[in-house]
Amino acid sequence: MYWQKDLETMPPEDLGRLQVERLRRVLKQARRSPFYAQALAGLDERDLTRPEQAASLPFTVKQDLRDHFPYGFLAAPKSQVVRLHASSGTTGNPTAVLHSKSDLRDWANLLARGLYMAGVRPGDVLQNLTGYGLFSGGLGMHYGAERLGSMVIPAGAGNSRRQIALMRQFGTTVMHIIPSYAFRLAAAFGQQGLDPRGDNSLRIAVIGAEPHSEQARQRIEELFGVKAYNNYGLSELNGPGVAFECQEQNGLHLWEDAFLLEVVDPETLEPVPEGRVGELVLTTLNRKAMPLIRYRTRDLAAVLPGPCPCGRTHRRISRIAGRSDDMFIIKGVNVYPMQVESVLMGLEAVGNNYLIVLQGGEAGASMTLKAELAAGMAGMNSEDREGLARRIAGLLRDEILVTPKVELVDPGSLPAAQGKAERVKDLR
Ligand code: COA
Ligand code: ZN
Repeated sequence: MYWQKDLETMPPEDLGRLQVERLRRVLKQARRSPFYAQALAGLDERDLTRPEQAASLPFTVKQDLRDHFPYGFLAAPKSQVVRLHASSGTTGNPTAVLHSKSDLRDWANLLARGLYMAGVRPGDVLQNLTGYGLFSGGLGMHYGAERLGSMVIPAGAGNSRRQIALMRQFGTTVMHIIPSYAFRLAAAFGQQGLDPRGDNSLRIAVIGAEPHSEQARQRIEELFGVKAYNNYGLSELNGPGVAFECQEQNGLHLWEDAFLLEVVDPETLEPVPEGRVGELVLTTLNRKAMPLIRYRTRDLAAVLPGPCPCGRTHRRISRIAGRSDDMFIIKGVNVYPMQVESVLMGLEAVGNNYLIVLQGGEAGASMTLKAELAAGMAGMNSEDREGLARRIAGLLRDEILVTPKVELVDPGSLPAAQGKAERVKDLR
C-alpha cells in the first residue's frame, strides 16, 4: 500500500517538527551559495521553531535564477554536482538546476513513492514518452521507475509508430505521457488500424507537465482503458514528482517531508486560506547542491481541505489552475512570449506586432505564430514569405524546442497589441 509508510502517514505534528529540523538544515546549506550568502545574511535559523515562520524569509523568483546563471545558486562544491537540467532558450539566460548524488536519490525516491501510490509495481513495464536530455521529465521519471523496480523503456518524445511498436512488443503496462500527446498517440493507433484500448497491455497512465482538465483525464482513461494519474512538478524543484495523485484521484499529495508548501496571493503575497487558489511557493527541504528557499512557482492551485481516505497525511493540492505570469506550456515545453519576441525582433523584415495562437483538442497541440511583416515589406512575394516563415520556424524551434506554424501577414493587419496578455490567444 505504501512505499514509505512512516513518512507518508506521519501525523501532522511530527511532520511539522521534521520540516523545522530540515528547514534549519537547508537554510544553513543554502547560505553556502553566493546568492543566499547575501539574501540570507544575518539570519539565525535556530530562531525558526514552527514551519509557518518560513514566511519571514525572502522569496526567490525565476529572475534570480536567470541573474545568477549558471552557478550562483550552487551550495556545494562543484565536485559534488553530478547532473544538470536546464530550460530551453539561447536568448537571455536560461535557468540551470544542479543536482548532487543525494539529490538524485531523493528525487528518484519521491517518484518511486508516487508511482507505487498509483499502483505501479516491480513487474510493470513503464514506457517513458517524455523528452530526455535537458528536460527533467525523461531522466527524472526514468530513475524513479528504476528505483521502484519496474522495467523502463526510455522511448523519449515523439515517433508515434515506434512508440506503438514498443508498447506492443514489450507489453507496456504503464506509460508516462504528456496529456496532449496522449490524444495524438491514440489517433496514431487509429491510423494504423489499431485500437488504443484493446491493442496494448496498458493499465496506468501517469500524466503531467501540462495543465489539463478533469475531462481530459477522463477522456484519456476512456481512450486507452487505463487509470490516469496526474503528477506535478517543475524543473526548478526537481521536475516530475513534487506532488502526485493517489488512487482516490482527489487532488495531488504534495510531499511535505521534501517541500515546505505555502500558497500566497500573487498580488499581495499574503497567505491564502485552505481551499482558495493562490500561487504555490515551495522550499526544498532536502536539496544539497541547489536548495531553493520560498521559490515562487507562478503555478496557481489550492490546498484541498480534509484528510484523504488513503491514509496519507501530506496535504493535497488541486490540479494547476493556471499561471500568474505569461508563460504557457505547449507539448510539455515551457514558453515565454518574450522568447518568441526576441527571435522576431532580430529579423529586419519582421515588424513589431505578432500573435501566438494555441490550439488543442484530439488532433494534438499546435502553436501558430502570426507575425506582421515590417512596414514597407507588404509587397514581399509569396515565395519569399514562405522562405522567411520557414526560417522563423527553424529559429524558434532552436529557441523554444517546439516548431510553430508561422504565418506572415501584412503590416497593420493584426489587432494592435495592448499589453502582454494579448500576445497569446489560448483556444484550448
Ligand atoms: N510529447 C511527446 N511527443 C510529442 C509531443 C509531446 N508532448 N507532442 C508531439 N509529439 C510527437 C508527435 O506526435 C510527433 O511524432 P509523430 O509524428 O511520429 O506522431 C513528434 O513528436 C514531432 O511532433 P511535432 O509536433 O511535429 O514536433 P515539434 O517540433 O513541434 O515538437 C517535440 C517536438 C514534441 C519533440 C518537443 O516539443 C518535445 O520534446 N516535447 C516533450 C517535452 C517534455 O517531455 N517535457 C517534459 C518536461 S517534464
Ligand atoms: Zn490520498
